[in-house]
Amino acid sequence: MNNESPQIIVRRSGPLSGNVQVPGAKNSVLKLMAATLLAEGEYVLTNVPAIADVVTMSDLLTALGISTKWLGPHELSLTNSGNISTEAPFENVDRIRASINVLGPLLTHYGQALINWPGGDDFGGRPIDLHIGGLEKMGATIEQNLLNIRASADQLNGAEIELSFASVGATENILTAAIYAKGTTVIDNAAREPEIGDLCNMLVAMGAEIEGIGSSRLVVHGKQKGSLHSVRHSVINDRVQAATYIAAVAIAGGDVQIRGAKSEHMEMVIDKYSQMGVLISPSRDGLRVTSPGRLNAIDFATLPYPGIATDYKPLLVAMNSVSNGVGIVTENLFPGRFRYIEELCKLGADIRIDGHHAVVKGVEYLIGTSVIAPDIRAGAALVVAGLAAHGETVISEIHHIDRGYDDLVGRLSGLGADVTRV
Ligand code: UD1
Repeated sequence: MNNESPQIIVRRSGPLSGNVQVPGAKNSVLKLMAATLLAEGEYVLTNVPAIADVVTMSDLLTALGISTKWLGPHELSLTNSGNISTEAPFENVDRIRASINVLGPLLTHYGQALINWPGGDDFGGRPIDLHIGGLEKMGATIEQNLLNIRASADQLNGAEIELSFASVGATENILTAAIYAKGTTVIDNAAREPEIGDLCNMLVAMGAEIEGIGSSRLVVHGKQKGSLHSVRHSVINDRVQAATYIAAVAIAGGDVQIRGAKSEHMEMVIDKYSQMGVLISPSRDGLRVTSPGRLNAIDFATLPYPGIATDYKPLLVAMNSVSNGVGIVTENLFPGRFRYIEELCKLGADIRIDGHHAVVKGVEYLIGTSVIAPDIRAGAALVVAGLAAHGETVISEIHHIDRGYDDLVGRLSGLGADVTRV
């Protein structure tokens, strides 16, 4: 461990009070930024979260020829002047999974793309065969080797594509590729995450024709190449960051307004929180959360939207670990996404992993120690868990948290939590 690196220190806290604003969604803004490759002009994105992944995506787009400029703390201008390179440099692509989202726009608009295998959180294998299969069905030629993916097509054609799994990234790449395909593309078993709806809405504002937005069957009528135009668009709020602040109140107790939390994007997870005993009610501009006492353990399984997102899982596991009873957790998306459990166990959690299941036996309290943030959401869950730990929880490798959380420490301390960044 490098002692020079920043760390987050958490002490047992609560009850929390006040209000917290939910920032824009990481998993939306990065895809909206990539979509600016589809048409020339100046785009302005508002409600952009101040997170490291936005900087990484800006760097990638800059390397491809898009110029970016901050107009304010949460307002980003991106100008596509038409002089675009179709080769995505390794050093940018390697840092975030969403870098793969430049593939569809580059291929459909400029006829080719050369991109290294994307990086991002390490949940074990993260294949892109569904992206590639869909693009090939539209007529693309794709060569892959250990280093990169090379795609080409003078003109993509509309196709009927049924995804064998409702993959977020594959849906987005096929969707953006279909924008300038000749004819109509149908994506069946499309992922339905709210962030895909946000992308569809921006594409429609740019001049695309998409039916079935929000459903598992997207129908895209292809347009003349280059006929779309730039837009101003506000990024939707981040349901995972909203869920993080709810989890913090659930664990530390208190009464907090989560401003900008959209209950319609979070129905199942709100239902699970309620089963645990957290009281959640609509408020004027978001949700009011109160947590009256010790939580009840719950069973849950992760699924594509509208199911319980895999990104919520570390939070729910942290909550289960201090609940009354035993909760059985099933991970259906990324079998390797249990690495943080070892860190929770260092804090005294009682968790046993069996394949893609985890059995979490609630303990009365955790005990602070040094832990490592293994990825974005798990890192945030360790911070939240630290609110229930006696003594001091020191979280290292917090660059993972910075990738997706806009001032987690500031927002939690604004609610009265004893959290500092050193
Ligand atoms: C996105 C999110 C991530 C979230 C995940 C699931 C971004 C940047 N990341 O990741 O935070 O946890 O959705 O909600 O938006 N799969 C294949 N072949 C493919 C593509 C995916 O087998 O071609 C599998 C994956 O291995 C995984 C499942 O499908 O088991 C879901 O992956 P996917 O929905 O594509 O997630 P990402 O887009 O990578």
